[in-house]
Amino acid sequence: MAKMEQTLVIIKPDAVQRGLIGEIVGRFERRGLKVTAMRFEQIGRDVAGQHYAEHQGKPFYDGLVDYITSSPSVLMVLAGPGAIQATRNTIGATRPVEAAMGTIRADLALEVGRNLVHGSDGPEAATREIDLFFGDGGVVDYERSLDRWVLE
Ligand SMILES: Nc1ncnc2c1ncn2[C@@H]1O[C@H](COP(=O)(O)OP(=O)(O)OP(=O)(O)O)[C@@H](O)[C@H]1O
Ligand SMILES: [Mg+2]
Repeated sequence: MAKMEQTLVIIKPDAVQRGLIGEIVGRFERRGLKVTAMRFEQIGRDVAGQHYAEHQGKPFYDGLVDYITSSPSVLMVLAGPGAIQATRNTIGATRPVEAAMGTIRADLALEVGRNLVHGSDGPEAATREIDLFFGDGGVVDYERSLDRWVLE
C-alpha cells in the first residue's frame, strides 16, 4: 500500500458560488479518500497571503488573493494512501484547458483564475497548509468501516 498521507483541499469561492461543493466532495469520497476535517469559511487576506506565499511577486498574485478571499470556501483535509498525488490527479492540471478529461478542472472549469479547487502539491506543503488552516484543531482521527474494501 502507498504511504498513508493527509492533504489540504480548498473548494474555492467559484465552486461554492456555482453550487459545486457536493460534486467536488463526492469525487474525492468516491475515489476512497477519507475526509478528516472540514470547515466553511471566508479566507482572510492574511491567511491567503501565507497560503500562497510562494506566489508573492508574481503578476497574478493580487488577483489570486482577491479571488480566494472573495467569498466563502470549504477547507478540508483528506487522508489515504498516496493522498497528496491522488488528490492532485483528481483535481487536474492548473490550467483547466490543459487538464486531463475526467478531472475536476477539465470537466467543470475553463480559466486558470477560476479553477475551483486547491490541493497541496507535496508532503511539505501538506504539513504546512494543514497546520495553517487546522493548527488549532479540527482534524479528526477515526476508523471508517468500509476501509477494508478500499485499502489493501
Ligand atoms: N498564470 C496564472 N494566471 C492567473 N492565475 C494563476 C496563474 N498561475 C496560477 N494561478 C492561480 O494561482 C493558483 C496557484 O498556482 P499553482 O501554481 O500553485 O497551481 P496549482 O498548484 O495547480 O493550484 P493550487 O495551488 O490552487 O492547487 C492556481 O490554482 C491559479 O488559481
Ligand atoms: Mg499550488
